[in-house]
Amino acid sequence: MAFKIAVLKETAPGERRVAAVPETVKKLAALGATVAVESGAGVGATVSDEDYRGAGADVAARAAAVEDADLVLAVQGPEAGDLAGAKPGAMLAASLDPFGRRDRIAAYAAAGIDALAMEFMPRITRAQSMDILSSQSNLSGYKSVLEAARYYGRAFPMMMTAAGTVSAARLFVMGVGVAGLQAIATAKRLGAQVSATDVRSATKEQIKSLGAKPVFVETVAGIEGEGAGGYATEMSDAYKQAQAELVSDHIARQDIVITTALIPGRAAPRLIGDAQIASMRPGSVIVDLAAEQGGNVEGAVAGQVVELHGVRIVGAKDMASTMAADTSALFARNLYNFINAFWAEGAQTPVFPDDDEIVQGVRVTRNGKIVNERLATA
Ligand code: NAI
Repeated sequence: MAFKIAVLKETAPGERRVAAVPETVKKLAALGATVAVESGAGVGATVSDEDYRGAGADVAARAAAVEDADLVLAVQGPEAGDLAGAKPGAMLAASLDPFGRRDRIAAYAAAGIDALAMEFMPRITRAQSMDILSSQSNLSGYKSVLEAARYYGRAFPMMMTAAGTVSAARLFVMGVGVAGLQAIATAKRLGAQVSATDVRSATKEQIKSLGAKPVFVETVAGIEGEGAGGYATEMSDAYKQAQAELVSDHIARQDIVITTALIPGRAAPRLIGDAQIASMRPGSVIVDLAAEQGGNVEGAVAGQVVELHGVRIVGAKDMASTMAADTSALFARNLYNFINAFWAEGAQTPVFPDDDEIVQGVRVTRNGKIVNERLATA
């Protein structure tokens, strides 16, 4: 029997994405897999059941789609119970939030599911096309600037008109990873005057190359180069103090701040406090892209716009879902690239070797146990 891949309809509130699109269904079928899509799975991403059928998928209710599946694809981790009926030892590939939902990871292990946490993809060249964090953050970074523009009662570009001059918005990006870089590029395109900061020194050149101004703590050492695996770590108290002083000074002169700072496995670092918000001019806007991970900004609430000292603080929530057609297509390609990279032509099934760096990175459960190194040490 052909290798069966099931694609789930997402159930989390606000989640509109889907883990496969017709293009990737065709490609998975071309590898030799059969694909079953849960009915309605693509609705939020404007893909109909008909579109999936046209690409060669079977469309069925959840139980029938999952029945005897070898691999289940989803955007967010489903409950282990939703996978009952899949083959014993079936695999699950999705964004599993392993640090936040350890209980669910344990449930996968108990149910004998081999779970693959796609957000644990190592930051290596070979894995770039499989990196869901990058593909989704990129679009979230773009959207964060549009959100800022929506709540900002002024224009972004400088405009010289017959009725006088409109001055350019000053926009500051904190955290220059994938989302931050795209926020800088988007804000530049809209005509804002952009500055940015990060703890990783490698970002300085990246900020400059986008035509923005780097604002960096120089008195206390930050993280050399890219940091471990491209990720930041918790900073020392001395660094935090120096950063707070630098930022206080800079922020008072900004109209818009976009924060994107994250530390894997930890709550988002607090970058902006109440006093700094109070120093901004009324009508300013802060977009906190880290709001769902605890927030970079004091008072930010995910999914809400809070006003403090006349400053609107937009707590981002489900940003990727606001562009579900595009983000789904990218997420689906990330999953396809992952499966394709490990597809064994002869066996007509993916083979995930234990000693492969990518497999070691993403695999969180195997043969009834939690196996991931990052989870073991967390
Ligand atoms: P992230 O989402 O984990 O964090 C966002 C940014 O916040 C990072 O740049 C981080 O340094 C910064 N940050 C953390 N704490 C901070 C603080 N206290 N103050 C200011 N900034 C702070 O990072 P993301 O976007 O997932 O990626 C980071 C980097 O990883 C990328 O810029 C890139 O260099 C690398 N990368 C490599 C890939 C590959 O080679 N396959 C793929 C994707 C990213």
